[in-house]
Amino acid sequence: MNILKPITIGGQEFKNRVLFPPLTTGYEDKDGTINEQSRAFYTRLAKGGVGYIVLGDVAPIPSFAVTPKLYDDSQIDCFRQLADNVHAYGAKLGVQIFHPEYNSEVLNALFAAGKMEEVRSQLHHDMDHFVNEVTPEELDQIIDKMCACALRAQQASVDVVSIHGDRLVGALCSPIMNTRSDEFGGSLENRTRFALMLVKAMKAAVPEMVIEYKLPVITPERGKGGVSIDEAPIFAQWLEQAGVDMLHVAQANHTGNMADTIPPMGV
Ligand SMILES: Cc1cc2nc3c(=O)[nH]c(=O)nc-3n(C[C@H](O)[C@H](O)[C@H](O)COP(=O)(O)O)c2cc1C
Repeated sequence: MNILKPITIGGQEFKNRVLFPPLTTGYEDKDGTINEQSRAFYTRLAKGGVGYIVLGDVAPIPSFAVTPKLYDDSQIDCFRQLADNVHAYGAKLGVQIFHPEYNSEVLNALFAAGKMEEVRSQLHHDMDHFVNEVTPEELDQIIDKMCACALRAQQASVDVVSIHGDRLVGALCSPIMNTRSDEFGGSLENRTRFALMLVKAMKAAVPEMVIEYKLPVITPERGKGGVSIDEAPIFAQWLEQAGVDMLHVAQANHTGNMADTIPPMGV
């Protein structure tokens, strides 16, 4: 069975083709530290034989969301402990680096000030509009932060950098959400400009690491953030040319309303 055979991707050998996908557990500490519970969860998966484990939604910035975070050198050690544990069973570890589809600095400040009503309304606003309001300078800064996060992951002996092509990246790629009229909006080339800039910057920052890209596809029925089915094969080739070693093709589901992805279950 091929699924249990080794495979070499981006110069690294994976012992089999069984992947544990990025799946935020909420097990980490509020500050994003990989704690005992989180470590035990992923180590158990490695012990069970999974060849490649992706740690979902790793934040390159401080945020109040309950996800792993790797925005400061002091956080490297806990990621290294996890990598060591997983490697002990022969599995590879990836971190899925993401940026949310909201202005985290504004939201963090409101949250810290306890202004929860304003947090809520800003969040609702940003989910639809941040993609069109974020400036090219801010996009450059976001790339810098994501690359710094990748470098920390490398220092922690993580094997793969997985770029979360949904969330902000997917919103920018989207023919539905992105209504910009600058070089980041309009044609497929413009909408995917940020994603490709990010991949190239990552490749330059951590050339020895395997680069994975989660490629969300909008189907006629569902999803808003990502590219259309017709655009996906073209974009996939551009991603490969930019340096992506591995694609994780998925139903676009992260951006917008849950109901975009999961149909109502009642009548
Ligand atoms: C609780 C939960 C958390 C998830 N967190 C993430 C995440 O952080 N990043 C991500 O890309 N996908 C996330 N997903 C989506 C999963 O990776 C996966 O694509 C989804 O469960 C569909 O699985 P399937 O592709 O095997 O059908 C999450 C899914 C669930 C149920």
